[in-house]
Amino acid sequence: MTTFWSLYVTVLTLGTIFALTWLLLSTRKGQREEVTDETVGHAFDGIEEYDNPLPKWWFWLFVGTIIFALGYLVLYPGLGNWKGVLPGYSYLDTDKQTEFANGEPGWTGVHEWEKEMAKADARFGPIFAKFAAMPIEEVAKDPQALKMGGRLFASNCSVCHGSDAKGSYGFPNLTDKDWRWGGEPETIKTTIMNGRHGVMPAWAEVIGEQGVADVAAYVLTNLDGRKLPEGIKADAANGQKIFAANCVACHGPEAKGTPAMGAPDLTHPQAFIYGSSFAQLQQTIRYGRQGQMPAQAELQGNDKVHLLAAYVYSLSHQEQTTEQAE
Ligand code: HEC
Ligand code: HEC
Repeated sequence: MTTFWSLYVTVLTLGTIFALTWLLLSTRKGQREEVTDETVGHAFDGIEEYDNPLPKWWFWLFVGTIIFALGYLVLYPGLGNWKGVLPGYSYLDTDKQTEFANGEPGWTGVHEWEKEMAKADARFGPIFAKFAAMPIEEVAKDPQALKMGGRLFASNCSVCHGSDAKGSYGFPNLTDKDWRWGGEPETIKTTIMNGRHGVMPAWAEVIGEQGVADVAAYVLTNLDGRKLPEGIKADAANGQKIFAANCVACHGPEAKGTPAMGAPDLTHPQAFIYGSSFAQLQQTIRYGRQGQMPAQAELQGNDKVHLLAAYVYSLSHQEQTTEQAE
């Protein structure tokens, strides 16, 4: 804040407080001490006003708020560039040196937050570090780790993947054995650390509308022997040819998917996040898809992601682990 605005705020704030103090005291001055039956002399709609002093408790309440306001303004920052007299030392320093990110002493909301974070790091850092040094499969068997991982998941992942991690339209289920990018512990961790971007190209212009219908028909009938809806004009046999020519590069010759590209298994209806009805398949193939998993490395850091990976891994490997984690 420039000096001008600092002064502006200070003068306005203190001026108001002093003006109110003056108002309070000056109106009290001429007033009588005792309670009377006399009125001040005017009447409105038959309502008259006694000429009595402000009740004592009320007066002192006013005085109290003024003292509180002044005390607050002295202790805390806020009045222009005034920093307050509260020390606000960092939690971790023993020799009363400030250790705040901005190098300044004093109480601020940011400093309080830094202190809380330092406190949490001091308390949980060693626990996170302990788990981070263990292999993910081992961490996934530890009830305490799963509890912590579960909390991290609830606050950071459930918005998209659901609180039960079962996903929804556009967001994969993390509790099953179908993996778009791979279900090895370290692969899951890489997914969470760096994020993922699945790119399914749009095919409408390449293979035409009939081609989209045919290949969608092929994908559909390839799924657990499902049948095309009645009255659909689509040639699954031709679709198979289109698939062999255009799709196997990513989805694999048997349509079982290629985790390295995030191309999903197309033989397993549960693995589809954009739906597996004929209409939904055509939609996907016609316009393409761009699923995006946001990277967590910077937000969470390695140790928390390690716990998250263990938690996610445990969801599809819950032989004896869930009961313990509850
Ligand atoms: C360049 C690689 C690539 C090619 C070629 C490709 N796909 Fe895909 N496909 C992907 C990726 C990656 C995804 C996942 C997209 C996402 O997660 O948002 C995907 C998703 C899909 C899905 C949706 C699955 C779901 O989860 O709902 C279908 C259906 C599909 N592809 C069919 C096809 C068909 C049919 C062709 C050929 C015409 C084809 N793909 C060609 C990479 C490819
Ligand atoms: C903004 C929504 C969003 C958030 C938040 C999110 N994800 Fe995802 N996640 C996705 C999407 C979308 C995909 C699928 C990407 C694709 O299309 O390939 C995905 C994919 C994944 C996968 C890969 C699944 C597979 O089949 O290979 C894992 C593992 C995962 N997320 C874990 C997490 C964890 C753990 C968190 C919390 C730290 C998280 N996600 C937060 C949207 C999100």
